[in-house]
Amino acid sequence: MNADPYAWIEKSLDTVRRADWYRSPQSIESCPGPAVKLAGRRLINFASNDYLGLAGDGRLIQAAVAATKEFGTGATGSRLVGGHRDLHRQLEVALANLKQTEDALVFSSGYLANLGAIASVVGKRDLILSDKYNHSSLKNGAALSGATGLEYSHCNLEDLTAKLEQNRHRYRKCLIISDSVFSMDGDLCPLPQLLSLAEKFNCMVLVDEAHATGVFGASGGGCAEHFGCTGLPLIQVGTLSKALGSLGGYVAGSAALIDFLRNRAASWIYTTGLTPADTAAALEAVRIVQQEPERRVRLHQNIETFKSGAIADRQLPISNSLSPIFSLPLKDAATALRVASKLKEMGIFAVAIRPPTVSASRIRISLMATHDLAHLQQLVEALAQVLSCQ
Ligand SMILES: Cc1ncc(COP(=O)(O)O)c(C=O)c1O
Repeated sequence: MNADPYAWIEKSLDTVRRADWYRSPQSIESCPGPAVKLAGRRLINFASNDYLGLAGDGRLIQAAVAATKEFGTGATGSRLVGGHRDLHRQLEVALANLKQTEDALVFSSGYLANLGAIASVVGKRDLILSDKYNHSSLKNGAALSGATGLEYSHCNLEDLTAKLEQNRHRYRKCLIISDSVFSMDGDLCPLPQLLSLAEKFNCMVLVDEAHATGVFGASGGGCAEHFGCTGLPLIQVGTLSKALGSLGGYVAGSAALIDFLRNRAASWIYTTGLTPADTAAALEAVRIVQQEPERRVRLHQNIETFKSGAIADRQLPISNSLSPIFSLPLKDAATALRVASKLKEMGIFAVAIRPPTVSASRIRISLMATHDLAHLQQLVEALAQVLSCQ
């Protein structure tokens, strides 16, 4: 037996390459913003989740620098074992205020927040119903929990109802989980209807507001606020890394839920607390989200401008969306890679998204409040040109 037990890795990579699924990061050489430098060239940036343009905002940078100078670079321990700072609590209070919930708990990433919340609230004798298009962190949270997991068709209330009717009575607790804004398609889950079904079938609901917080709702509270669902029994998860321009995640909900998670969520208990810099930057971002609604207004104006240019005027086959996330569906992974590379030649940075992230390859386009009209026009022109050569 002298076979190499690691030889499968190269073989696996070959399979990935042959399918055009091979991935590698592209390095951005400038501050985040509506235009970025990539391989020495300035490109208009449609590949960022920094929807409000806060990741490069001077006030967030200043807050991060000040917190680093005062508290150092690392939290030095888990929150329960020496890693807690008053800044963490200030951020949790601010997030609970933004989400209009009793309390909130800050995790080291949105991914960890989903793993921790889902795996804590359900277990072996329970049922999870999950939208087919949910983010990986929700799916892996469901797997980690040990609960029986069933997927319902994307945003399909009939399918969800049928699955509840057939299965709910066989389990102790039941949790319905869904992205509120779907990360790759940009559409919104039917939150009010999910909540009524949950009430009817005695289920909990966990909604991932990663792409909605700061973007939807009059004060940036996300889809819960947008749909008038604030105050209803609901577990809200989110990230500090998208519209809030920092890093980290959170769960917002009732005081009892948050207290329970502080005692049970392994991905919160057994990991180092968020850095002072990330915490202070996010705290400043929450303040800006609430005090500068004009950023959100500008973002939604950009969404309308892009839709009227690309979809209404030019009839481009772009998904219609209420959110800043759009997709250009393409026939396969190789085409998606080719289109992304042509767009780059034309000065547009938008990324090809391929399986296994999504089942159908596409270009994902995300808009920012800080894009101006010329940026959007250049995007529409480039898309029209690229598609005319397909
Ligand atoms: C819907 C959704 N949930 C959770 C996450 C994870 O958040 P984080 O980047 O903070 O880990 C992401 C993306 O990163 C996401 O798109």
